[in-house]
Amino acid sequence: MTAHSIVLQELPADLQRERLPKHVAVIMDGNGRWAKRRGMPRFMGHRRGVDALKDLLRCCRDWGIEALTAYAFSTENWGRPLEEVEFLMTLFERVLRQELREMMEENVRIRFVGNLNALPRSLQVEIEKSMEETAGNQGIQFTVATNYGGRQEILQACRAIAQQVQQGHLNPDEIDETLFEQHLYTTGICDPDLLIRTSGEMRLSNFLLWQLAYGEIYVTDTLWPDFDRHEFHQALSAYQQRERRFGKV
Ligand code: IPE
Ligand code: IPE
Ligand code: MG
Repeated sequence: MTAHSIVLQELPADLQRERLPKHVAVIMDGNGRWAKRRGMPRFMGHRRGVDALKDLLRCCRDWGIEALTAYAFSTENWGRPLEEVEFLMTLFERVLRQELREMMEENVRIRFVGNLNALPRSLQVEIEKSMEETAGNQGIQFTVATNYGGRQEILQACRAIAQQVQQGHLNPDEIDETLFEQHLYTTGICDPDLLIRTSGEMRLSNFLLWQLAYGEIYVTDTLWPDFDRHEFHQALSAYQQRERRFGKV
């Protein structure tokens, strides 16, 4: 067995437990390129991408990370060819149905964020079911951003707040960060400490624009289906070397 194929179940010794990020967010990018490099159709990359996500979720749980948020589908991804969009929607639905029992066994609390009403009805049913069934679990908080857009999230919060003002329930002076956050999809989940983006792209692509105000960003050239525990270990090592100043000196 090569050093690389050893599965790290325990927190690697060089990582400090007390300095782990509480919440890790990932932009799972590069599925299409992963497939293309192997002469396969793009959907094969998405399939392998699911395996990488399942392993990362387990790894976060094994290593004691409290929350993981994954970007699965952006509001801009509707612009892809219809067959790719349909494949992804069917994949999400199937994976959710297959994994629910295991998530219960592993005490995972799953939540979906995004404009869920615009998703296929049958997917919405699985989403609601998984959120309801796992709501009482006490383990890792796993959030999946599906039909998610940071700008849309901020706009819908503005609309909800404006309505409260219009109805006379709220004074504009009372609008502060705490109140605003209560209207975001992610309310109740702490902001990500670490954002990982795979496949070398250095942009946010409309992901968690509000929540990532002070998140540490780590970009790796590795394509998402190849992102494993060793890659995650490297990301955490880099994170632990950062000095988070939050604007102070
Ligand atoms: C990320 O991989 C998955 C989704 C956006 C759903 P991509 O499909 O964007 O893969 P690339 O970037 O084209 O390689
Ligand atoms: C971001 O990846 C969205 C997800 C990973 C779901 P994209 O591949 O859609 O982002 P761009 O187009 O490269 O910015
Ligand atoms: Mg991409």
